[in-house]
Amino acid sequence: MTGDAKKPTAGNRDPLARLSNFDVLSDKWEAKSRELTLIDPVELASYLKSKVIGQNSVIDSVVTRLHRRMAAKRPNKPIAVFCFAGAPGVGKTYLAQVLAEKIYGSPKHLHYIDMTKFGSEASSWTLFGSAAGHVGSSRPGLLPRYLRDVPNSIVLLDEIEKAHRSILTQFLSAWNDGFITELSDGSKHSTNEAIFIMTTNAGRSRIAELARDPKITQEELNKLAKSALQDAQFAPEVLSRVDDVFAFRELAGLDIARVVALEIEKATKSYNLEIAGQGIDPEILVSAIDEFTQNKPAGGVREIARHIEDKIADGLIEARRNGANEVMFEADGSDVRVVAVPPAEAEQPAASGNETVSR
Ligand SMILES: Nc1ncnc2c1ncn2[C@@H]1O[C@H](COP(=O)(O)OP(=O)(O)OP(=O)(O)O)[C@@H](O)[C@H]1O
Ligand SMILES: [Mg+2]
Repeated sequence: MTGDAKKPTAGNRDPLARLSNFDVLSDKWEAKSRELTLIDPVELASYLKSKVIGQNSVIDSVVTRLHRRMAAKRPNKPIAVFCFAGAPGVGKTYLAQVLAEKIYGSPKHLHYIDMTKFGSEASSWTLFGSAAGHVGSSRPGLLPRYLRDVPNSIVLLDEIEKAHRSILTQFLSAWNDGFITELSDGSKHSTNEAIFIMTTNAGRSRIAELARDPKITQEELNKLAKSALQDAQFAPEVLSRVDDVFAFRELAGLDIARVVALEIEKATKSYNLEIAGQGIDPEILVSAIDEFTQNKPAGGVREIARHIEDKIADGLIEARRNGANEVMFEADGSDVRVVAVPPAEAEQPAASGNETVSR
């Protein structure tokens, strides 16, 4: 970064503090000028694997490709255009989010675009702006605005297959020519510092079937997934511009339990509570694996976790109201009982053990 970004002190009044809002300005400038330095692929892969469960081989493959793309930056092209394909709830969107936070060190560098909102041709102006005199022409499009403010970023096009075909073709200049045009004023915004990641469920049954074959390597699976997307009528003009398709495998066995446990932890924290050490009854997690394996819910593991969250919501509210900081979860037939750990006992968990819990 160039220029002094130190906050001015009272004795040394910086004209930027006097004439503008220094904090906002320096935040914006920092976000714009943070360089994406070459990543350490081993460190990055191991960090991503610690966050995204059961997707080790796809993570290795993404990191290898990204490392190469960053080393050999192409003029007038984005750093990479990737497609994450596979069943729902396996971590596609989540991996893109964790990746952005890790490589740029801040969530500001993730531009999330929910492509399900762009199912009609008419919605295009929200994304790309609108020519003068047309609806919305006074407002800049989302994408030019995002790239103008933070060009060094991951642009996450979530559930890309749900967008209207004509909207998808508007991305081609971003990928082929390295810029997009803001239609309201004709300004051009470079995409050559951006990494585009689209996610899709297209071809999911075929990809899941292929992924179950342990003899197929990740590299082969990625190639086969590209053909599966073609067969599923995924827009060919988009597919031909994608650098790499990455196929995600469905979660299995204890990995299902790991994701469910993390989701229960997230829900618990949202009530400002913690789970006491080893506080989730293994029976709850075994039932979650069974339910997932037998029923194959359309929303993936996330759907099983939501069922459990429904069962514990009232208990968590109650525990919070009673002043608890920590809770445990016990299986109770098909229900889940929330057991509050009294605050005084929670401070000495080693001495207190299970018999200190109250109901
Ligand atoms: N492999 C995983 N490791 C850790 N958490 C996961 C994993 N898969 C899913 N989750 C959890 O479930 C949530 C939903 O997952 P995510 O949005 O990544 O699914 P997805 O593969 O994008 O599914 P969809 O195709 O339906 O969009 C995540 O925010 C995360 O909390
Ligand atoms: Mg998703």
